[in-house]
Amino acid sequence: MDWGMKNRLSKIIRPETGRTVMLAVDHGYFLGPTSGLEEPGKTVAPLLKYADTLMLTRGVLRACVDPMAGVPIVLRVSGGTSVLGNLADEGTTVSMRDAIRLNVAGVALSVFVGSELERKSLLALADLINDAQEYGVPVLAVTAVGREMVRDARYLGLACRISAELGANVVKTYYCEDFEKVVKNCPVPIVIAGGKKIPEKEALELSYNAIQRGAVGVDMGRNIFQSEHPVAMIRAVREIVHANMAPDKAYDMFNTLSRENKPAFA
Ligand code: 5RP
Repeated sequence: MDWGMKNRLSKIIRPETGRTVMLAVDHGYFLGPTSGLEEPGKTVAPLLKYADTLMLTRGVLRACVDPMAGVPIVLRVSGGTSVLGNLADEGTTVSMRDAIRLNVAGVALSVFVGSELERKSLLALADLINDAQEYGVPVLAVTAVGREMVRDARYLGLACRISAELGANVVKTYYCEDFEKVVKNCPVPIVIAGGKKIPEKEALELSYNAIQRGAVGVDMGRNIFQSEHPVAMIRAVREIVHANMAPDKAYDMFNTLSRENKPAFA
């Protein structure tokens, strides 16, 4: 692996722990103004210092994030569809040249294994990897987005493995029963998405279980920024990811920090 690739990867997965807390705020690229992300700049500003990496689109990055903030960026470079259409029909939306101009630590693209457009999305992943490889830019493959996918170990294992076989450096998927099998069968690091907002205690348990079963981290969005106490939540998630804190202790920590801070949307 070349120096640039290693250097960028170390900005995504922290070398101190081999883990990562990625903050995902890219939802608007197909969902529009998602709850909690109506004004993305305001949402992310207090969270940035607790995120190892920020995952978002080019437009929100340029318009809403201070270039001096110092947070490594994983840029979503797929899109072109909306929640009203066929999500699997995405294309690549950002050139590698522009991604490098934005000084990204990595780029991300969704694959839709099992959809009628799986070939298109997998070849788009391969093309992106070919391009990114030229410049030492890691690629994060995002699996299992869409309505009709069954998120079990068989399906997620298939989608993760195919993404890794094509050359993705990191794969993002969902936590599921027998998650350790998904991890074991995927030769590159896995991070989990949080999914729809659930109570904080459950989201912390989900994070803990994923880490204990082999995920290198989370790429979490709604369960952080839709919490009434997003700073407390990301800090608790951080302890689980980087320090293996037990979920009940992390929840206590979340409650303590929540009491100290006013609700974000008050
Ligand atoms: C959408 C994404 C999101 O970043 C991903 O779903 C993570 O966010 P959440 O934790 O809210 O599920 O990749 O395609």
